[in-house]
Amino acid sequence: MTILALETSCDETACAIVEDGWKVHANVIASSLDLHQVTGGVVPEVAARAQIESIIPVIAETMRKSEIRNLKSETVSNFDFQISNLSLIDAIAVTSEPGLVTSLLVGTETAKWLGYLWNKPVIMVNHVRGHVFANWLERDPQKDSIQFPVVCLSVSGGHNEIILLKNHQEWEIIGESQDDAAGEAFDKVARILELGYPGGPLIEQYAKLYTQMVPNIESDQMVRFPRAWLNSNHSNKWDGTTFDFSFSGLKSEVLREVQRRNRLNDTDRAEIAYAFQDAVCDVLVTKLIGAAKKYQAKEIHLAGGVSANQFLRMRVEEQSKTLGVKIRWPEKMVYCTDNAAMIGAAAYYEKPQE
Ligand code: KG4
Ligand code: ZN
Repeated sequence: MTILALETSCDETACAIVEDGWKVHANVIASSLDLHQVTGGVVPEVAARAQIESIIPVIAETMRKSEIRNLKSETVSNFDFQISNLSLIDAIAVTSEPGLVTSLLVGTETAKWLGYLWNKPVIMVNHVRGHVFANWLERDPQKDSIQFPVVCLSVSGGHNEIILLKNHQEWEIIGESQDDAAGEAFDKVARILELGYPGGPLIEQYAKLYTQMVPNIESDQMVRFPRAWLNSNHSNKWDGTTFDFSFSGLKSEVLREVQRRNRLNDTDRAEIAYAFQDAVCDVLVTKLIGAAKKYQAKEIHLAGGVSANQFLRMRVEEQSKTLGVKIRWPEKMVYCTDNAAMIGAAAYYEKPQE
């Protein structure tokens, strides 16, 4: 089954063609990031206007780039937006929620029109579920099939969950952020440190600088931020009661530390970036490993924009060594952040709407 998927939930306008939930024939992403760098964050109205401008060219480019014609017996000479032979595409998929409402509407309306014009079923996909299925992309199930149960930490700018997948259809959110998502906290802390937007990659870069400056980081780390374990007691170790998260207090701690120092130089920035990243990853990974143990997961997955973070990946690898579980993160960096291929993968396991 071959699906043409759309993703427009935030500032990316994305289209992809995915076969059987894993094989990516084309993956095109247009971002309005440059517009949001000026404002230091996404302005919904600006994002939606950019989506409207990009959506048709992005679909056309996806159709043009797709190598689908080489993989089926039919030969399509000019596989572009005008093609008459659309039999190669079985369904349209689109992100329906959650996200910025005006941006989502651009994708869902376009998908419905395409479905109507091309006489194809339209499959609505939850964005978080899409991120989870990014781990299926470019992994041939005949050679490397996913083993359930899977515990997935899906963490990005707009959402932050630990999800238990019992099989391809049954999933349960067992923990989520009560306030900021971790990616949002990365973005806000980067703004406090005057690093730019989006904050995640910049914080990671500065934190790495700090590890080069301080070789014995375990003993010589100067500032250390408190962890919000959300314990039922006041212990400073996680008591295992909840898989939920909270990152807004940590952001306030960073602000206090910055104000205490008056003027920041790059060494301060590197130190604070490291301490912040360390605190976020400590909580994320401790709870993820706790969930994997509790639910006897066969695999641990990382997904979402923050799963691009190398420090997070390293921590998960270190702390899961004794569990003997398979660790996966998306095959390519481009599948960590928002993309339509993940929506095409998730849609393969959904039922088309009547
Ligand atoms: O999945 P995504 O593209 O959009 C949402 O669904 O929100 O994730 C974007 C988020 C941003 O908050 C960005 O700062 C964060 O992912 N991010 C990172 C890294 N790369 C992107 N956070 C930490 N480390 C990174 N390397
Ligand atoms: Zn996302």
